[in-house]
Amino acid sequence: MKLVLLGAPGAGKGTQAKGLSKELKLAHISTGDILRIAIKENTPLGQKAKRYVETGELVPDSLVTQMVIERLSSDDVKDGFILDGFPRNRQQASDLDNFLSGRNTCNYFVLYLDASEKTLIKRLSGRRICRKCQAVYHLINFPPLKEMTCDHCQGELYQRSDDKEETIKNRLEVYQRQTAPVVEYYFKQKRLIHIKSDDDAPLVLRQMLEVLAKPFSSRS
Ligand code: AP5
Repeated sequence: MKLVLLGAPGAGKGTQAKGLSKELKLAHISTGDILRIAIKENTPLGQKAKRYVETGELVPDSLVTQMVIERLSSDDVKDGFILDGFPRNRQQASDLDNFLSGRNTCNYFVLYLDASEKTLIKRLSGRRICRKCQAVYHLINFPPLKEMTCDHCQGELYQRSDDKEETIKNRLEVYQRQTAPVVEYYFKQKRLIHIKSDDDAPLVLRQMLEVLAKPFSSRS
């Protein structure tokens, strides 16, 4: 099965991709995670991407699309994958279609995670991440047992630089301007599955698994 997770920053793409990946045994490909690792390791890609990621702007298509195509060409994703954070504009969406059509594997679905702006802002501003193992917490929704310390590896928790208030605002604007039109693109292609994602994470996951188990004609 091939899935694309689409949704605004904080809609829960990363959280749900992890759950789906575990349940459906699919590789999870997060463009945000790949870029953050490249920035941390100061690779040539990371050096070019840094200023965009830190300000909440989209990294140029020429860098991101190549990176995704390389990943989608790997052996471990030939039977399925979950794309989290790509595509993010119309150009990336048609580049993905061209790549998959070229391989006769353009049979994917798009789960559109839809949450209110109030939910998005609360989730992004409360998110904390472990410096060592990258586990994701939330100060209110998924707090660690010990303050600012990872339950799994005792690493220190930190706030993503783009989760600061002023950058969150820009990310939501960038989403509306550049990514929201992709929802329409997939709706017209009849690939879109609408998921309300304001609910608790396990409930949203259950909803997605139920809908994926149905024949496509009865999904909505
Ligand atoms: P990326 O990392 O993809 O960020 P994003 O799309 O802004 O999404 P987030 O990771 O912020 O949110 P999410 O929806 O995954 O939410 P999460 O599950 O973590 O991209 C970062 C940057 O990289 C971009 O700004 C851009 O610069 C660049 N980039 C990436 N891809 C690109 C591309 N294709 N093209 C160009 N540039 C690109 O949840 C958030 C919080 O809420 C967590 O604390 C979580 O615990 C909590 N939570 C989640 N779900 C629930 C729930 N149901 N109930 C309660 N709490 C919940």
